[in-house]
Amino acid sequence: MSEIIIEARGAYEVWTINGEARRNAMSKAMMAELDANVSRVSSSRDVRVVVLRGAGTKAFCAGADLKERATMKPDEVPIFLDGVRRIFRSLERSDCVFIAFINGAAFGGGTELSLCCDLRVIDPAAEMGLTEVKLGIIPGAGGTQRLPRLVGKGVAKELILTGRRVGAEEAVKIGLATRVGSQEDAEKLAASICENAPIAVSLAKHAIDEGAHLDLDAALQVEQAKYAQTLTTEDRVEGLKAFAEKRPPVYRGR
Ligand code: COA
Repeated sequence: MSEIIIEARGAYEVWTINGEARRNAMSKAMMAELDANVSRVSSSRDVRVVVLRGAGTKAFCAGADLKERATMKPDEVPIFLDGVRRIFRSLERSDCVFIAFINGAAFGGGTELSLCCDLRVIDPAAEMGLTEVKLGIIPGAGGTQRLPRLVGKGVAKELILTGRRVGAEEAVKIGLATRVGSQEDAEKLAASICENAPIAVSLAKHAIDEGAHLDLDAALQVEQAKYAQTLTTEDRVEGLKAFAEKRPPVYRGR
């Protein structure tokens, strides 16, 4: 049985974490497939955007697979977590754009996984939260670092120290999710990103991520370096030509 079901939709794919009975919790097998698929799309020019969701309607991802975790020897846990951290970072740094469609509960590692994605669309009935302190641990896959960078230190501290779950409306209000919507909305977003020049989209993503925590002068240099890379692309020429000819551009990612 596949741990992640892949559906190709032209330039984007929909990935479904296939573990409904355990509320799509992150098991070793699921992480291995996530790793393989992140590597696959990161080295492919054909897949531009991935919409990541959970199977069923109850959960996007219920965090660490707590049943599997209970069977791990103490020295296995840090090794597993190191793997999770590496896989999350490679997803975050991929040229591909990742959209988390939070179609149900996203707790602990589930919220951390969504924080590595570029955009987060949340179903009206879904909830998110970094609930780890309730279990005697702290977020261990980037949550204490990525959440404050996204929503600010004060709000992040409130959420992490209380372990409180937030609904869709509040998630958008505090900037944790980018919008409330359905899978169709998430896929429309994916399709609209795919209409744009592939190299420009990836460079813009990296410019935002790499510049976000630099001082403004250093960050503007990051932008300048990324911008310079667009100048030599065929797609830039095509964009200008299509504008002059009043037709939609045909981008080839070159
Ligand atoms: N790891 C392993 N199994 C999990 C799990 C997890 N993180 N979360 C849920 N499950 C399992 C339950 O044990 C249950 O299995 P069972 O049928 O064998 O008893 C099954 O998934 C359904 O769980 P249930 O709680 O009945 O489903 P629900 O739809 O009412 O609620 C959640 C779903 C996700 C809200 C709830 O299961 C939950 O809060 N889970 C814990 C999430 C968490 O604290 N994660 C942080 C980890 S650091």
